[in-house]
Amino acid sequence: MTSEILQATASQVTVLIGAQWGDEGKGKWIDVLSKDTDLVVRYQGGNNAGHTLYIDGQKVVLHQLPSGVFHSNQRSALAAGVVVNPSQLVAEMTKLGPFGVSLSPERLWLSGRAHVITPWHIYVDGEREKSASSPIGTTKRGIGPTYSEKAARSGLRLGHYVRDSSRLAWVEKMSEQNSAFRDHLASHSQEWDEFHQAAKKLAPFVTDAEDLIRTSVSSGQKVLLEGAQGSLLDLDHGSYPFVTSSSTGAGGACQSIGLSPRRITNIIGIAKGYVTRVGSGPFPTELFDEVGKLIAKKGNEFGATTGRPRRVGWMDCVALRYVAEVNGLTGLVLNKLDILTGIGPIKMATAYQHPKLGLIKTLPWDTDILAECTPVYEEFPGWDVEIPKSGKIKDLPPQAIRFVEAVSKAVDVPVTMVGTGPNRSEALYI
Ligand code: IMP
Repeated sequence: MTSEILQATASQVTVLIGAQWGDEGKGKWIDVLSKDTDLVVRYQGGNNAGHTLYIDGQKVVLHQLPSGVFHSNQRSALAAGVVVNPSQLVAEMTKLGPFGVSLSPERLWLSGRAHVITPWHIYVDGEREKSASSPIGTTKRGIGPTYSEKAARSGLRLGHYVRDSSRLAWVEKMSEQNSAFRDHLASHSQEWDEFHQAAKKLAPFVTDAEDLIRTSVSSGQKVLLEGAQGSLLDLDHGSYPFVTSSSTGAGGACQSIGLSPRRITNIIGIAKGYVTRVGSGPFPTELFDEVGKLIAKKGNEFGATTGRPRRVGWMDCVALRYVAEVNGLTGLVLNKLDILTGIGPIKMATAYQHPKLGLIKTLPWDTDILAECTPVYEEFPGWDVEIPKSGKIKDLPPQAIRFVEAVSKAVDVPVTMVGTGPNRSEALYI
């Protein structure tokens, strides 16, 4: 099917999304898959994301730049659906210098349509979380308040931010309308100074990124659209209200760029061989025992952005099947399978049991119902031998193959790649 689609189209446009609650290890896979790509585009979220990469054994965490920036022969873009923290983005661009990465306006396109996270939005995020009776557990990076401002049509777009007169006019208008904003300006002058200073540095990169992306697609270039967070954190299709404030799925990529869905040729989901979640919200397969602690320790399950310990649980194929359907996944990467070595038996949820509704096979829209569900597990013998670091999926120990095949069958998507370690080379292919 995939090869037929590829033959029928002049270009290849791949969307790569997190197929769980984020932190599936997208950074490494975007880096791996973008090797043969002309352009990598981040299409939603902001510096709430943390994509960890190991470049020549050295750890790098990217929060805003696409994970493809390390390939000198390709371009990167942040599209309209992204929210940008200007001073943090400048800091991130600067920290790439020692890796020999130099970004020019030809190589990095920042959408003038993207919205800007200001110190005010970060403050509001923190205050909302502090006063909420049931906090979301946000990253406190100002993401929700910035998208709210955008939806209220009073936000600041990046194109206007880099123009001094428009940026100052926006600040002025906000001050006139809101006394708390005015107080914040006065009491957080250093943050606001940094905010203003970053404008000059970003200005050369701001452009009509969407037009350039569409032109790249039409001219037959290979384009990778990089999702942040995970499909279960999607504003519409995730476990609302315990979600992020953007459209994390494949549809979000089209909307952010203004790219027709007809242009998308591949939609790859990345899932770990187990599940993690940070922040609040229901998590049916969550583990509270020693096995959970062991997986968390082996998998180094701490947030790349906030350092918070991640909640850990068994593979949930009810949720993963839902994600496969919502996004129309054409392939699945099963990541961090090496972490499950020595852990057995391994469990995988194939349905939920609800005290009133009985057996449930699809992810309920209602998070209150989801919170009352207990998983129905299928159990698999584990494996103790080290799994191969590179090669083919068929080289895995038979117990691991059984698990990989069971996941693939349960979600009805082929597992085309398996992650066996953090480095670029640690991958098995179909
Ligand atoms: P926000 O995106 O900071 O507003 O946080 C909303 C929810 O999304 C919280 O549960 C966060 O923990 C979660 N979240 C945001 N970004 C990430 C991420 O990159 N990985 C995992 N969870 C995330």
